[in-house]
Amino acid sequence: MTSFNKHILLGVSGGIAAYKSAELVRLLRKRGAEVRVVMTQSALQFISPLTFQALSGHPVHTELLDAETEHAMGHISFARWADIVIIAPATANLIAKLAHGAADDLLSTLYLAATCPVYIAPAMNQAMWNKPVVQDNIQKLKIHGVHRIGPDVGVQACGETGLGRMAEPAVICECLEACFSSRDEQANCLRGCKVLVSAGPTREPLDPVRYITNRSSGKMGYALARAALDAGAEVTLVSGPVSLPAPELVDVIHVETAAQMHAAVLSRASGHDIYIGAAAVADYSPAVIAPQKIKKQADETTIILHKTKDILADVAALADRPFTVGFAAETHELENYAQAKLMQKNLDMIAANWVACGQGGFDSEQNALQVFWPNGRKTLPMTDKYHLAKQLIHLISERLQIINHEKKNTA
Ligand code: PMT
Repeated sequence: MTSFNKHILLGVSGGIAAYKSAELVRLLRKRGAEVRVVMTQSALQFISPLTFQALSGHPVHTELLDAETEHAMGHISFARWADIVIIAPATANLIAKLAHGAADDLLSTLYLAATCPVYIAPAMNQAMWNKPVVQDNIQKLKIHGVHRIGPDVGVQACGETGLGRMAEPAVICECLEACFSSRDEQANCLRGCKVLVSAGPTREPLDPVRYITNRSSGKMGYALARAALDAGAEVTLVSGPVSLPAPELVDVIHVETAAQMHAAVLSRASGHDIYIGAAAVADYSPAVIAPQKIKKQADETTIILHKTKDILADVAALADRPFTVGFAAETHELENYAQAKLMQKNLDMIAANWVACGQGGFDSEQNALQVFWPNGRKTLPMTDKYHLAKQLIHLISERLQIINHEKKNTA
């Protein structure tokens, strides 16, 4: 038995299997975890909070708007405190609420605020479990990154036999243990790798005082550089003009124009294992840069723009190309455009973000990504850019391992 010195938040919703969760608390504590328990109102009908209080050694929380709780540890602090959230049992009703983003009690609100891994151990009657609407909700949660443990097959409290029994506490414990050890592995998933990241906007000068640019702040690319560094990689960051401090231990190359970014990336790409193009590179730049300030004269004027070189496509075309990851910033038809860029630029992966809705994307603290690769996809839900970057880095390392493994087998 491995011991884990982690913070585990146990959510208990209202099902007969709630009694098993008392045993779960005991097992988790035995392994050295600190456990806090949040119960829904209907869970209180099945088991007393005193049982969980005695087993966890902490008061149990049941109210969203509880002045005392909010003062001590409110839903946001709970979500931040937890290394993992496990909801056991997760009833059909709770699963529906989580799948649809409802936040009308402490547990569902806390789920929305959580950025750590979330596990559910469903428990319900077998006919309920088999209902298409329940399966749709389960599928939705899977896409949203929620992990599921169980349910098991067996005789149920209602006397029926089938799939729907909550997984045994010992099994749940083992799954959480596996999660912790894979997270420790994740922390080192790019050890020995060299990662090149591009970030920020480019500036395309019109004359000595004017330029064309975009709203990129560099936050997404800088977060990726830091996440790659934290995953053990040696990181080079090619940055357009931004006002962010250079991340420590990252080799930063400052550039201004798309042409300079192209030269900086292409001269280094071959020596790297991974290239991530998070920069918002200008697609066009002025054909002529006026040597002196352009004077105001006619009522209308025309600027001729020439297409810039595509950095991403050129990296992907190198004979010894790194694992090449593009971004797609879209205001509509996100998936179609992202899939088209993945194919046309011959990328290993593309991370697509909405940039029209004012939430996420350019110059915001948070972002969400739809990640595509040949024959695969994953949704990374809205969270702060560093946590999102960590998830993308892990996904990249998983895909890179698979590709390297396939290459070895065909060599
Ligand atoms: O910097 P932030 O404020 O944090 O915002 C983050 C972001 C929205 C800029 C980032 O998440 C993002 O989406 N970056 C890519 C923006 C973009 O230019 O997307 P695109 O769909 O126009 O380009 C597709 C890909 O081609 C990108 O990887 C881009 O770097 C690359 N490209 C584009 C043109 C060009 N000449 N060379 C390129 O390599």
